[in-house]
Amino acid sequence: PRIFVPNDATAVACGADRVARKLEAGLLARGITADITRNGSRGLFWLEPLIEVETERGRVGYGPVKPSDIEDLLHAGILHGADHPLCVGVVEEIPYLKKQTRLTFARIGIIDPLSLTDYKAHGGYRGLERAITLGPSATVEEVVESGLRGRGGAGFPTGIKWRTVAAAPADQRYIVCNADEGDSGTFADRLIMEADPFCLIEGMTIAGLAVGATKGYVYSRSEYPLAFVVMEKAIEKAREAGLLGDNILGSGLAFDMEMRMGAGAYVCGEETALLESLEGKRGLVRAKPPLPAHKGLFQKPTVINNLVSLATVPVILDKGGKYYRDFGMGRSRGTMPIQIAGNIKFGGLFETAFGIPLGELVYDIGGGTASGRPVKAVQAGGPLGAYLPTHQFDTPFDYEAFTAKDALIGHGGLVVFDDTADLADMARFAMEFCAHESCGKCTPCRIGSTRGVETLDKVIAGEKREQNLALLTDLCHTMKLGSLCALGGFTPYPVLSALNHFPEDFGVAPKLPA
Ligand code: NAI
Repeated sequence: PRIFVPNDATAVACGADRVARKLEAGLLARGITADITRNGSRGLFWLEPLIEVETERGRVGYGPVKPSDIEDLLHAGILHGADHPLCVGVVEEIPYLKKQTRLTFARIGIIDPLSLTDYKAHGGYRGLERAITLGPSATVEEVVESGLRGRGGAGFPTGIKWRTVAAAPADQRYIVCNADEGDSGTFADRLIMEADPFCLIEGMTIAGLAVGATKGYVYSRSEYPLAFVVMEKAIEKAREAGLLGDNILGSGLAFDMEMRMGAGAYVCGEETALLESLEGKRGLVRAKPPLPAHKGLFQKPTVINNLVSLATVPVILDKGGKYYRDFGMGRSRGTMPIQIAGNIKFGGLFETAFGIPLGELVYDIGGGTASGRPVKAVQAGGPLGAYLPTHQFDTPFDYEAFTAKDALIGHGGLVVFDDTADLADMARFAMEFCAHESCGKCTPCRIGSTRGVETLDKVIAGEKREQNLALLTDLCHTMKLGSLCALGGFTPYPVLSALNHFPEDFGVAPKLPA
């Protein structure tokens, strides 16, 4: 039988390599030849390491498996899908997975990440084939039609960005993939690189052919060493198979790509700082305009998209823009890979159509806190995202609905906190984080964040609380409107949401309902 043991960073961190070795030895000792495939995680992280065995009923799972469980599992007959206390049944039937709509993550956890045969057997390269048949402008229009918006967090329509780049006159254009996934609680970019790297390669190739760019770069954060290696191997394999290079799929069209590693600065996830870093310079934010779409990498028109946006392009081209846009609500079309993290019982990846209420994600899907204590708040959209209190849990997961509450969905990360969290501390952390990560180019972010920490310290110590709170609110206003990029511009969101929703943590009496 074919057996699967995940090989992505989460599973490996949970001991998957040791489990795989023990399994191999156990099979060898029994004289059994079985094919152990190192797949990616399905994103049901509390079950990792999750062993799956192919049976007539489908893939039967066992997890979380420790190396010391292997002998017992083999004895119980897991190669035939036997029952065992660690058996989680047919994996596809687990409600957490079954309730999802997996479009971007359709192959994640199913295939061997570095097998082109597996990739193609699961719909891979159908999107690129169709893009080649359609030609550049119809490909761009298909992405416009899909309604796909930037999954890095800002939600700018991807197709419109591509149109801008395609129309900009130039002798050279570039595709840059932003894989500097720095938001707290997020791992979608990493999981795609580690578990379905050809999907990103295909998406970037489609983007390149669509806008007339022959070269692409993936800028990955340095904290993702495994993803980096998997991507490099996949790029090499794609080249050997004629899926990158001068004659893609025999079309005579050219596109190639390379990996680049960041050096640990959060601000390098900001697109212009990223471009500076890619050019070999210090990661300082550039003033916009000019937009990267007009003058990006090496001053050439550049499509810079988040990794999830690019990895969603193959399914859009394969199934059509209309198919994709039929999912979702309002102006938020398609699906979002929501990453549920923090103090949560069932942490993992949940890809679903836009519109699901926040509370459903936290309670029904995530199972509430891991500590078993009441939920106090959820921070959505990374360290620069707002804290949402439980009375806002009816908010649907949608760009506009979140904006209306002074919150952001960002890159789709949720970090859950229980009632022991002190939101004044978290507000202080936001300012401290900004001070630490600021590139230093603009004053509101560089100086404002440091003054923010000091002012919050005074508030927390009860020193002239009212005056200092007024000062803090004023400072937040300046940072919001005066910063060059989202780092300084969004830091006020966690600070003000904490203050507005949890004034008691700041030593302020809660406002009575009107
Ligand atoms: P933005 O709204 O300035 O730009 C969004 C994108 O659209 C950029 O690529 C920009 O160049 C492009 N764009 C804007 N107008 C355009 C036009 N007319 N034609 C073509 N392209 C155009 O937002 P920004 O500063 O890029 O991102 C802010 C967001 O980043 C925040 O909302 C936050 O959610 C997110 N964020 C994500 C993080 C992560 O780890 N994924 C970390 C921190 C923040």
